[in-house]
Amino acid sequence: MGKRLIVTIDGPAGVGKSTMAKRLARFLAIPYLDTGAMFRSVAWKLGQGAWEWPEADIEKALSGVEYALSGVGEESVLALNGVPIGDEIRTEQVGMWASNVATLPVVRTFLKKAQQRLGEKFSLVAEGRDMGTVIFPDAPHKFFLDASVEERAHRRFLQLEAMGKPADLKELEAQIAARDHQDRNRAVAPLKPAADAVVIDTTEMDREQVLAALKEAVA
Ligand code: DC
Repeated sequence: MGKRLIVTIDGPAGVGKSTMAKRLARFLAIPYLDTGAMFRSVAWKLGQGAWEWPEADIEKALSGVEYALSGVGEESVLALNGVPIGDEIRTEQVGMWASNVATLPVVRTFLKKAQQRLGEKFSLVAEGRDMGTVIFPDAPHKFFLDASVEERAHRRFLQLEAMGKPADLKELEAQIAARDHQDRNRAVAPLKPAADAVVIDTTEMDREQVLAALKEAVA
């Protein structure tokens, strides 16, 4: 098999990373890896308050956890111990739990190995917070998507509305701002652009414009 291609997309919550990663992955005919789903599934599996457990207990709880990836583009499926990760992790509350467990070195070390193992096996569009800085520092294409917190809350609001889950816009804005603050300021692998990332402020751009910019950069 030839050398694998890794494209990284990092950025704050609600910026549209997943949508872009899926579509870029389809364009490249490779899988996309949602690493936020890995942190969310760990948070979901361990449960509320797990971030205060002794490190050894967390390590033990994670010892049987394995991730598998299949499919390409939008059809990529990430499974935890053989079970596809579902929509139960897609709430802002589980997002905050994920952000909490994501501050713990024991969790980051565990998921770093899992992510890098998938990157050895597959070409990937890998999406998260530290893909370009820590997990895949040698990736040939790195992007950092950004947008104002108001715009990101608005996008998330529309997304939730479309899923039949109306939310309060101001509350979403506060939740997203709090999560970003924690993700940007943690000691280990904080959210920030890699020195060699292409930074795109998408506040004034629509999806097609962002996708076109990504495609052009990887072509
Ligand atoms: O992308 P997301 O909203 O699904 O991510 C949920 C949380 O997981 C995010 O707030 C911080 C954490 N995370 C991380 O620390 N590193 C990643 N590569 C991906 C997510």
